[in-house]
This record gives sequence, C-alpha cells and structure tokens, in this order.
Amino acid sequence: MCGIVGYIGAKQAQDVLINGLSRLEYRGYDSAGIATLENDIIRIEKKKGRLINLEDALEKAPLSGQVGIGHTRWATHGVPSDANAHPHSSVNQEIAVVHNGIIENYMALKNELKDRDHVFVSDTDTEVVAHLLNELYTGDIVKTIQMAMQQLKGSYALGVLCANEPDKIVAVRKDSPLIVGLGDGENFIASDIPAILNYTREVYLLDNGEIAVLTADTIQVMNSDGEIIEKEIFAVDWDPGDAEKGGYDHFMLKEMVEQPKAMMETLMGRCCESGVTFAGLKLNTEMMKNINRIQIVACGTAYHAGMVGKYYFEKFARISVETEAASEYRYKDPIVDKNTLLIVISQSGETADTLAAIRLAKERGAWVLAVTNVVGSSIAREADDVIYTNAGPEIAVASTKAYVTQVGCMMMLASFLGELNGKMEKAEGSRICHGLMMTPGLIEKALETQAVIKAFADKNHKIYDLFYMGRGVDLYTSMEGSLKLKEISYIHSEAYAAGELKHGPIALIEDGTIVVAVCTQENVFEKMLSNIKEVKARGAHVLAIVQEGHQDIATEVDEVWVIPEMDDDITAIPTIVYLQLLAYYLAVARGCDVDKPKNLAKSVTVE
Ligand code: F6R
Repeated sequence: MCGIVGYIGAKQAQDVLINGLSRLEYRGYDSAGIATLENDIIRIEKKKGRLINLEDALEKAPLSGQVGIGHTRWATHGVPSDANAHPHSSVNQEIAVVHNGIIENYMALKNELKDRDHVFVSDTDTEVVAHLLNELYTGDIVKTIQMAMQQLKGSYALGVLCANEPDKIVAVRKDSPLIVGLGDGENFIASDIPAILNYTREVYLLDNGEIAVLTADTIQVMNSDGEIIEKEIFAVDWDPGDAEKGGYDHFMLKEMVEQPKAMMETLMGRCCESGVTFAGLKLNTEMMKNINRIQIVACGTAYHAGMVGKYYFEKFARISVETEAASEYRYKDPIVDKNTLLIVISQSGETADTLAAIRLAKERGAWVLAVTNVVGSSIAREADDVIYTNAGPEIAVASTKAYVTQVGCMMMLASFLGELNGKMEKAEGSRICHGLMMTPGLIEKALETQAVIKAFADKNHKIYDLFYMGRGVDLYTSMEGSLKLKEISYIHSEAYAAGELKHGPIALIEDGTIVVAVCTQENVFEKMLSNIKEVKARGAHVLAIVQEGHQDIATEVDEVWVIPEMDDDITAIPTIVYLQLLAYYLAVARGCDVDKPKNLAKSVTVE
C-alpha cells in the first residue's frame, strides 16, 4: 500500500528515487511521482499510471538535485490521476510531502484550511498535510511537524521536503511502516526494505511517533516531544538479488519456483526426527497450562494459512481454535483475556487490521505470537513472541512462497503445542516432522508439472467461472487456490466444502463449468467421489487432484492431476502449488499483468 522512498546525498536524487520506486511498485501502481530540491526550489513531477509514465516524463524533463522524495500510490482518497498523485505540495511549493496511510480527519482540516484561503488541487487527504505544514511553519520544519502531529488523526508515514531547509529530509511515522537507511555520505528513507537494498543493508526501524531528520552525513531520531532517541542499527540479511526477477517472466513465477528452498529454510533447525523445537520462543509448558483459548487472526492468504492451522491444532494438539479475519476480529469485541493465546499470521508484518488485532488482544492481556516473514516489521516488534517464516522477500502481489511457509509453521506449531500440552505422542510428532521434511521435494515435483498445467490453462483460459471443492484440509487449499485465481486472472471463482455444494451453489453449475475437485484425503475420498458425481450430473467439467494410487478416478472425471503419494497430513503444502500454477498460467493465457493485478497492492497498511 503506497511506497515511499527518499534520498539525500551526492548522487542525483532522481536516479535513486526511480530505482527505489521500481522496487516498490508492488505496494501500489495507480500513479507515481517524485520531488527534488535544488537551489532552494522544490520541483515535482508526477504521473497517473505505472512508473514507466513517470520515467517517460522525466526523460523529457529530468529533475536535478541531490535531495528528493518519491512515491508510488495505491489510491484511497481520490481516483488515480496526475493531480492526486504524490508528492503533494503547499502554496508556492515551499513544502512537499509523500504519504502512506489515511488522515482520518482530513475533511475537517481541509474545511478549516479552505476557510483560511487555502486552495486545494487534489481530492487526497495528503494534500491537507502539505497545507497544514505550510500554515504552521515556524522556520523549523521539525518543530512544525511536531505541531502538525497533534492535529493529524489516522495513520501516516510521511517524507517531507522543505525549500527553506534544503539540506534535510524529515520522516515521521504513526501506524504506517517507515525505515531509515544508513549510507556513507548519503541517507535514505523508505516504506520497505527492497527500495534501498541496492544502496545499504543498515537501517533504523522507526517506531510509532518517531521523527527522523536526515542530512547527507547525519541522522537524528527523536520522539514526538523532540527528545533524541538512540536507535539500534538493524542489519538486513536479504540478498539484493532476492528482490530481482532473475530472468523469470514474473516475480510470481520466480517465487513459486523458490518454494522448495523457502520451505527448507522454514523447517531448518526446527523440524527433526525427534520433533519440533522453536529456538527463542518464550511460550512454554507452564504458560500453556494457563491458556484456555487460542485464536488465529490474519487476512487474505495468511487467513487461509490460519484455517489450515486451526485444522491441525485441533487434530494434533486437541485444542479448539477460532480463526478469524483480522478486519472482523478488531471490531467485534472478541472474547480475549490473559488466558488467550493469539496467533497472528502476516507475510509483510505490516497489515493494519492484523496489527490492530494484536494491540486489542495485548490490551486485554493475551499472549501474542506472530508468524511473519519480515524481520523487524511492526507485527514482529509488537508481538510477545515471533516465529519467522524465512521465505525471503516476496515481491509478487499474489502470495505464494509466504503461504506454503506459513502453513509449514502452522503444522510445526500444532505439533509443538500438541507435545507441550501432552496431547500428542512423540511418535506422532516425528511422523509430522518426517512428512514436513519431504515437502521441499514434493514441491519440486509439483513444479515439474508446469507443462501439463499450462496446457490445461491454454485450453481453458476463456472461462468466466471456476469452482473448487474439497473436504477437510483440502477445503482450505481450495479456498487459497480460488483466491489466487481471482486476484490475478479476474476469473470469478468460489471454493466450497464439497458437501455444501448441493445446499445452494450447485445451481450455478452449467454444461462445461470447470470444477476443480481437490481429493487428497483418504478418509473422505469416497465422499468426494459422490460430490464429483453430483456436479458431473449437472454438466461440470471436472479436474480432480488425487494422490498416486487413485489414478482410476480418471473414469469419473475429465482430467486428473496425480500428485505423489504422501502422508495425508502434509498434502496442503504441495497441493497448493498445483493451484498456484493453475492460477498463474490462466492469468498469463488471458494476458493479465500477473505481478500487478488491478486494484491490489502487496501490503495493506490501511484498514
Ligand atoms: C493474496 C495476498 C493477500 C495477503 C493479505 C495479508 O495473495 O497476498 O491476501 O495475504 O493482504 O497480507 P500479510 O500476510 O502481509 O498480512
């Protein structure tokens, strides 16, 4: 959700900003813009649409200067347009601002400013910030920002340039992520690590309410009262190459191919024949004795991993679990207290609703365990305990490697808790670990079937509807497969518990409607067969996914994808790879922009 980058140093700011924005486009691509400062004058260029539009404009009329801020937008207030693109500026361009977040009281502020003769040229909440800063300006931009913070309600990560103070960039955050990159004779701000990975691996992670003042040679961080804070340097261990496409057509394809390695990294040091260990986890047997409620809270794909988690927590640890979408959890006055374990799952570690769920649960005394991919993210920092998925940077908007590693963590955690509370035999723990350790190889096998999946997609890409059905854990794999398909191919899709179809949705099945039947679970295989017959009888074209040994289902369906034989308890991990590939190749066949699906952004930092 909106990417921010800022630079001050000896290089031409425009080059660094464009480089940074090209790595942040996954955060939003409705428009992009930069502002630079040269000879005490702020110059702005901004364009609706993809970054390339801005690059074209800058090629014709470059902006010089060694200080600048840039932004890539995911629209919240105001349609995508040149006028609504950031940076926004005040009267006479004395102050320029880039913003990620939502200023909730912007209407009231705007009306007051209008009454005092401010003229607005955009529909955004951000423009109000630029005007407010301009009105409050005292000759000291930092003090001015502190004053403005008292009036601004909502969430914001801001990068600010001031023409009167041309040797600095000021950054401030409240409930939206922002980092400061440390260079040699140059410094950076960014909403996200990949933006500056080419220039530095040393960063400060700003906390809520903190303000950073950057010159080319110094960085000063202070709280909202202006008291200086000593920040610890956070060393980023991502390889810059990990955030590059590396010859693949799309980040999504690259990240799907990286899944065996990602899974290996997730399991390494945690999963062995004798069971699961999580080094550094504070949650222990004593604490578990007091836990009488477990809740898993997440959004989107991570929520689906949470559904798989619920399934295995109940199966392995015999603990009843509620899994809930964070956007619902936070507003429903959930039953949560000091005897609750709240597990949140988030790839980015910055999702606003998930973060709000953590804050609410902590306020009420719950123990919060985060499963996240981004070290140092807000969620990692605010939780009491963290398990990192170790998937490496995920750039494609459609989450793939993060999902399989989240599911891997859920299964390890279920097994770990089962042993902690004495509900699971050691031998069971070993069986699960053994199964999990097979998953990198099984994902490899799934990836080897790309040609078959592509051929199916090429033949069927004109469809307008696709149903998935499954039972048990296959239902959650189906839900995730369906989400992947919707978001990147724009094909309407539903996922249903196979037994539920006849209670309504079967009315939508027509001659030729594709139904993907995920049938990896032996205990419900016969039931799935009956459900397949029900949809076949209504004209469905059925693609079944079965384990080796069940190929003879071919006589009942139109197409079968046979996955290797494996422990039923680990099928959720390799099976989703087939569905990811199906979504991917259908989207490619339809000519969709896979890495930048319409209306979406990678990290949803506003609610
Ligand atoms: C879908 C997808 C989203 C995210 C969701 C939560 O492919 O990526 O549904 O899963 O926005 O994001 P995180 O995991 O960053 O909290």
